Amino acid sequence: MRFNPFRPGSIVSPGMFCGRGAEVIAIEQSLFQTKNGNPAHFLIEGERGIGKSSLMLYVNLLATNQLVGSEYFNFISLQIELNDVDDDTDIVRKIGMALKRELIRSFDIKAIAKGIYDWVINWNVLGVEYKKDKDGIDSLGAMEDLADLMARVIKDAGSNTLGALDGILVLIDEADAACDTANLGRFLKLFTERLSKRECDRVCFGLAGLPSLVPKLKDGHESSPRIFQDLNLQPLRPEERREVVRRGLVEANAKNETETKIDESALTLISALSEGYPHFIQQFSHSAFASDEDYNITEEDVMDGAFSENGAMDQLAKRYYNKMYFEQIWSEDYRRVLHAMTEYLDQWVSRAQIIKSSGIKETQVNNALAALKTRGIILANEQKKGEYRLPTKAFAVWLKIKSDKPMSVKSAAQP
Ligand SMILES: Nc1ncnc2c1ncn2[C@@H]1O[C@H](COP(=O)(O)OP(=O)(O)O)[C@@H](O)[C@H]1O
Ligand SMILES: [Mg+2]
Repeated sequence: MRFNPFRPGSIVSPGMFCGRGAEVIAIEQSLFQTKNGNPAHFLIEGERGIGKSSLMLYVNLLATNQLVGSEYFNFISLQIELNDVDDDTDIVRKIGMALKRELIRSFDIKAIAKGIYDWVINWNVLGVEYKKDKDGIDSLGAMEDLADLMARVIKDAGSNTLGALDGILVLIDEADAACDTANLGRFLKLFTERLSKRECDRVCFGLAGLPSLVPKLKDGHESSPRIFQDLNLQPLRPEERREVVRRGLVEANAKNETETKIDESALTLISALSEGYPHFIQQFSHSAFASDEDYNITEEDVMDGAFSENGAMDQLAKRYYNKMYFEQIWSEDYRRVLHAMTEYLDQWVSRAQIIKSSGIKETQVNNALAALKTRGIILANEQKKGEYRLPTKAFAVWLKIKSDKPMSVKSAAQP
């Protein structure tokens, strides 16, 4: 048995976390401004699998001094997920519960200011007050209470186990999910206004979500996206991709009895195939590691791991493209139409362009486009008739690899 360090399905460990230098600097700036009384909120956006949750975890560690950054930070960091909230009272409740947990965890709660102690002990009771099954939920009242509490914690809670408090960081992952139901945009606008009225200026909000997050926040409240600095995650650079794999092997070699090595050419192949998408890097590396039998990962291992049955390509399809996954039942026309679209990644492509580059008849293209659209595999431009696009860049890359399956290892490794 051999420990496989690559984690295609979960958040990256801090030791294997690579790249994101510019984003980390921007977020450290946000924390520094907030710590000094000028709250600066940030928003991380990007496709699924680009590394949003991993960056959020990294930020959580930086903010709580569990990782050495450019600055020492001692924030109370609240990690919230809002995939199961129904309204803004649920958002208040989630933040409140997380704050309660953190206060108990990192403060000497018996020595804390009396008002805060009472609140921590009674929060469940207060939680009931806002409960949904009661008539007329007092959502604004709940917001006022939470803002009061935060102001009080920052002013009076004193020091925690790490020393003097810098402020409170609220990290909301998958924020796009909460916009549909709970109107996160409106909540953020109203809540940050309440904080500033109380001169409670050391609270920072960090959001992460799909590219649809910004327009959704706007729907909730026109000015709410303006509160945030927008950080748009892009694929990792070639040198960063290789570094992910190298660090993974360092982790593996620390645990396994026999050392695993990798050929430079295999590194290049993983880097090229992945096109920098972190979930692809993890998956191709995981599968190559699993395919290798002689403790030396070669190009053959990478290819084998990628294209064999249940290999990396199949796993990615299952995890990310379930409803888009194309089986034998798919016609050659669909495949050609999709392939013609991959060179435009997720940009709009006109029907005329598709007809031209797919080399198939207009009626066949029309039928294929209609079928692909109905199945949600491609999107149609509502603003401009006759334009279509693939939903994400990573899916375009996956399709490209699938249909170009390199004939020889050498050709795939060309940058
Ligand atoms: N900076 C990074 N370095 C190395 N691997 C990463 C990095 N960011 C993400 N990953 C890996 O990519 C995959 C997707 O990451 P995740 O943070 O879950 O993305 P998202 O939240 O955007 O869907 C995971 O397998 C994770 O381990
Ligand atoms: Mg995520």
